[in-house]
Amino acid sequence: MIFTIFGATGDLTTKKLMPALYKLHEDDQMPTHFLVNLIGRQIYEEEAFIEHIRAQIEGNYPNWDEFKTHLRYIQMDFTDPDAYVAFAEHMMSVAGYESQERIYYLATAPRFFPMIASALVGNGLVVKGNMRDKIIFEKPFGENLETAKSYNQLLLGLIEESQIYRIDHYLGKEMLQNVLMVRFANKIFESIWDSENIEHITIYAFEKETVKQRGGYYDRSGALRDMVQNHLFQTLALVAMDSPNGLNDRLIKDEKVKVLEKLEFSSPMIFGQYKGYLSEKGIPSDSKTETFVGLKMFVNSRRWSRTPFYLVTGKKMKDKRAAVVITFKESNCFFESGQPAKNTLTIEIAPREGLALTFNGKAPGLQSYVMPMKMDYCHLCNVVGNTPEAYEKLILDVIHDDASLFTRWDEIESSWKIIDQLEQLKTYEPLYQYEDESEMLAKLKSEWGDFLTYL
Ligand SMILES: NC(=O)c1ccc[n+]([C@@H]2O[C@H](COP(=O)([O-])OP(=O)(O)OC[C@H]3O[C@@H](n4cnc5c(N)ncnc54)[C@H](OP(=O)(O)O)[C@@H]3O)[C@@H](O)[C@H]2O)c1
Repeated sequence: MIFTIFGATGDLTTKKLMPALYKLHEDDQMPTHFLVNLIGRQIYEEEAFIEHIRAQIEGNYPNWDEFKTHLRYIQMDFTDPDAYVAFAEHMMSVAGYESQERIYYLATAPRFFPMIASALVGNGLVVKGNMRDKIIFEKPFGENLETAKSYNQLLLGLIEESQIYRIDHYLGKEMLQNVLMVRFANKIFESIWDSENIEHITIYAFEKETVKQRGGYYDRSGALRDMVQNHLFQTLALVAMDSPNGLNDRLIKDEKVKVLEKLEFSSPMIFGQYKGYLSEKGIPSDSKTETFVGLKMFVNSRRWSRTPFYLVTGKKMKDKRAAVVITFKESNCFFESGQPAKNTLTIEIAPREGLALTFNGKAPGLQSYVMPMKMDYCHLCNVVGNTPEAYEKLILDVIHDDASLFTRWDEIESSWKIIDQLEQLKTYEPLYQYEDESEMLAKLKSEWGDFLTYL
């Protein structure tokens, strides 16, 4: 297998792709013969670049010396058409090139997708219909509906849909995959999964990090495009979709699209930018890009029309954490004392993976006092070793031609439709400057109510 990464000097490669490839190799999931081409624009000696990557990644890599023999650094500007000629020569000189699996990972900003894909096809490195040639496109796929459509049309002229993998690594996360299991494998949940019983649902993904070195990319994107269009909408679709007629990939995606097509938002939307953003590298001094978003949304369907979905994401938060919190309606209580708390089901995505269900029971003692109780399941604690990182799972799926955890075009299309509308409305909303998360959470609570205590 020849695995080529465009954007190898970037944050994603260092933080996620290299550890994932290393782990797959360590777990004997990579083919015996594999080569990883790391394509970057910066001038590095190969050895120095590989050492640089090793120095950047956290964790233990006892077999690094063996692993690194599979790595090549290729210096090229991927916007230069001539550079692909030399790259093609390199590729075709690899022993057994014709019979190798060839995977290209575009860990770049989306505007580079058409150019790189066209050059790969134009230089014979990716051949339409040859299932040995596959291209992985990082999220977000496009910058808005128009660009996403044009990229998609261009790609479908160049290669087959089955050679295209539009990645959203959230879908590779254990607890996202668990959403459907928990919902559809348990009678206790599925029969009460609607507006009749559920008061509201909150989906949040907080990042502690600022934009760091990624200003150039992030400022064109912002939280709406970087997080909501993909991770949060995909999570919402899994939580809200109707039961598919079978647990097969196509049927699940059909149901997710139905949810995305019925999404509606409600005012006000809350946007923030952390103080200090404008001084980050690569950020224009007058940038209006949001680093925090709070949205109240509805799914206009019989099942959900009265349940608000709160979507919240932000950078420079106190810590990295992500979860889905499902809050059920109050029960009619007739006990002696104590107001029963509303039941909640929390699907924890990060940092801990787990599930927590709160319910009410009798407090110990002579009287009938109602008391909140919690059942807590830690997903990581009950498995031997670590659960695979999302990128490991997804890269392995590409090797095995399995696109079930990748996004289909119509999911992306319906997500962009709504994001485009939000982008327009955003210009009329204030952009709050925040020092830390407490200021934005206070703002959310003042707009929506102080029930968001779990944030
Ligand atoms: N970082 C994450 O945790 C993360 C997570 C999920 C998804 N993603 C997605 O992954 C993509 C990349 O993100 P990132 O964080 O890795 O961005 P990044 O740190 O800005 O990296 C982008 C890479 O593209 C390279 N590049 C840009 N123009 C080039 C050119 N003309 N020729 C060769 N190389 C060029 C950059 O090289 P230079 O070093 O020379 O500038 C850099 O290596 C984005 O679409 C993002 O949404 C990132």
